[in-house]
Amino acid sequence: MRLSLTRLKLGPADLDDVTAFLADVEHSGSAGTMHKLPRPGRRPDRLFFVGVGPGDEGGWRAAGAKLAKSASKEPTLTILLPDDVTPAAVRGLGEGLWLASYRFRLGADEPPALRRVVLASSAGAVASSADLAGGLALAKVVAESTILARDLTNMPSDEKTPAWFAKRVEKAAAGIPGVTTTVRDPKTLAEQGFNAILAVGGGSTRGPRLVEMSWRPRGARRHVVLVGKGITFDTGGVCIKPLSGMKLMRKDMAGAAAVIGATLAAAALRLPLRITALAPLAENALGADSFRPGDVIRHYGGTTSEIHNTDAEGRLVLGDAMAYAVRRLRPDAIIDLATLTGAQGVALGKRTAALYSYNDTLAKSLAEAAEVAGESMWRMPLHDDYVEALDSDVADLVNSTDVGAGSVMAALYLREFTGGLREQWAHLDMSSSAWADSADGELTKGATGWGVRTLVRWLEATT
Ligand code: BES
Ligand code: MN
Ligand code: ZN
Repeated sequence: MRLSLTRLKLGPADLDDVTAFLADVEHSGSAGTMHKLPRPGRRPDRLFFVGVGPGDEGGWRAAGAKLAKSASKEPTLTILLPDDVTPAAVRGLGEGLWLASYRFRLGADEPPALRRVVLASSAGAVASSADLAGGLALAKVVAESTILARDLTNMPSDEKTPAWFAKRVEKAAAGIPGVTTTVRDPKTLAEQGFNAILAVGGGSTRGPRLVEMSWRPRGARRHVVLVGKGITFDTGGVCIKPLSGMKLMRKDMAGAAAVIGATLAAAALRLPLRITALAPLAENALGADSFRPGDVIRHYGGTTSEIHNTDAEGRLVLGDAMAYAVRRLRPDAIIDLATLTGAQGVALGKRTAALYSYNDTLAKSLAEAAEVAGESMWRMPLHDDYVEALDSDVADLVNSTDVGAGSVMAALYLREFTGGLREQWAHLDMSSSAWADSADGELTKGATGWGVRTLVRWLEATT
C-alpha cells in the first residue's frame, strides 16, 4: 500500500448532509469506531467517518487500522486530516493503515485491492508538510520492520531453518548502509564455546546459527545489546510437547525476529547509538543426537546448566548469547525478548508481555515506550527467595524447577548470565503477545511482530 501526503484545497463540502448523518448515527468519536455513508452516483461515492478518540497517536493508530479494514476493497482512499493534526497522529495513522492491511503471503497471491492512500491536509493545517511527512516516514520504517518480523514468524518451519532465518536477515540488512551481519555456523559455535546453542540444536539435521547484527554509527556513545530467542521450531525435544502445545511453535523465534526488525529500523532511521542484535537460532527437535534430561551443558563463559527439561530450551540459548554480550560486547544495557514460557500468558493474557528488570529507570522507560507504541507490558517481580530453587547438585544451575511461577523462574535463570550488567538488564517474556488468534486493531491474525514498535520507540528516546 502506497501512502502519500498532499495539501488539498477542499471545495465547499456537503456539510449539511454530513452533520445530519453524524447526529443521526450518534457517532461517539471513540478511537477506531466507524460509520459509513454511501452516496450512490456522487463522488466520492462513499464516506467513512472514523473516530480518533483523544486524537493522540494511539487514537489515530486505531483509526488507521479500522480504515484499512473497512476500505480494503476500495481501489483508492483519501483521508482528510483535520487542521490540528500532529506528526505523531500521522505516525499512528500510517502504522495503523500499514499494519492492519498486512497479510502473510506464501508464494504468489493476489495483491490487495487498496493500493493507494492519500493523506490530505488543508492549507490551514498547524503542522508543516515537512513535519507531517516526517511522521509518515517514521511510520513506514516501523511498519516495514514489524512486517519483516511478522513474515519471519509466520513462515512455516519446514522452510524456516536457522540457516534460512540467517540468510533472510542478511538479505534484509543488505539494503541498509552501515549494518553489518555475521553468522556463526555450528563449527564456529563449537570453536568458540557456544555449547548450549549447539546442545539445543543438536537434535535437528538443520544446524544452529548465531546471528550478530551491528549498527554502529560514528560518534555513538551508548551501546545497547538486544538478544532475541530464535527457536525455529520447538517440539520440546526429548521432553516432547503434546500436539496442542506444539502446533504453533514455529513462532518460537519471534523474539529474534523482533530484535532484528528493531535494529534494522534503528539503522534505517540512523539513530545515533550503537546497537548489536544477537539471535541464537536453533531447532529444538527430537532426534538421535538430541540433548537429554540429566545432561550438563557448559555455556559460553563457563556457567554450567543441568538439564531438567529439554523443553526449557530458550533460556539455554539465551544464556550463551547473553554471556557473550556481557563478556565481549560490554554494552551499556542489555534487553532480551523471548517467547519463553507458557506461564507468561497464564499470568497476563494475550496482549501483555512480562517485563523484568532490577532497574526502575530502565523498566519505566520501556513501559512508557510500549504505551506510546501501542504495545503492552507489565512489570513482574524477581523474587530473591526463589533463586535457590535453581541450585543443582552437579552444575551451577538447573534449567527448570517445580516452583511454579514459570515466567519468574525463567527470568531468574537468565539473570545468572547478566554478569556485571545485572542492573542494566531487562527481560521481556512475550510468549503470548507474539501471536494473535484473531485480527484485533492493527494486529492481523497470526504473528504480531510484538516488540519492534516498543524497541524502536525506546531506542529513539535512549540516544
Ligand atoms: N516456547 C515455549 C514457551 C511458549 C509456550 C511460548 C506457549 C509461547 C506459547 C518454551 O520453550 C517452553 O516450552 N517453556 C516451558 C518451560 C518449562 C518446561 C519450564 C513451558 O512454558 O512449559
Ligand atoms: Mn520449549
Ligand atoms: Zn521454546
